Amino acid sequence: MERTFIAIKPDGVQRKLVAEIIGRFEQKGFKLVGLKLMKVSKELAEQHYGVHKERPFFPGLVEFIISSPVVAIVLEGDGVVAAGRKIIGATNPLNSEPGTIRGDYGASIGRNLIHGSDAIETAQSEIAMWFKEEELVTWEPTMTKWIYE
Ligand code: RTP
Ligand code: MG
Repeated sequence: MERTFIAIKPDGVQRKLVAEIIGRFEQKGFKLVGLKLMKVSKELAEQHYGVHKERPFFPGLVEFIISSPVVAIVLEGDGVVAAGRKIIGATNPLNSEPGTIRGDYGASIGRNLIHGSDAIETAQSEIAMWFKEEELVTWEPTMTKWIYE
């Protein structure tokens, strides 16, 4: 089953949007398989956003991610990577559709509340970066038969 990595960034935690954000993915029907609140090390933040290391916003982005706790999440479900990105919305909240997380709660690109993996392969490497195998929980929601035919 497909998995994605989601992180509620420091602004989402500080603004007390954790329950609201996790709720949107739960209500959609995706399964939580990993969940933890954590202070992120500089090494992990730099590794996570390594693809952007030459960009001018990189140092500020890393400082932001390590500035305050983050909620790290792994979700499972058919098509969860692409659908997760749709639920999150466009990178710049000023362009995100209303009804998306960034569209409903964000007002600037540097405080866009949440990260979601951008491809299945990226998701696999991000999950391995953020979670130990034993932190991921195998379980069967009783609602599954009401979500998938
Ligand atoms: P993310 O990786 O956080 O899920 O966001 P994304 O895929 O939608 O966007 P990406 O291009 O990967 O950018 C990563 C994060 O860097 C910050 N950013 N700031 N100031 C800027 O011009 C700028 N551009 C990007 C945002 O926090 C973005 O989410
Ligand atoms: Mg990205």
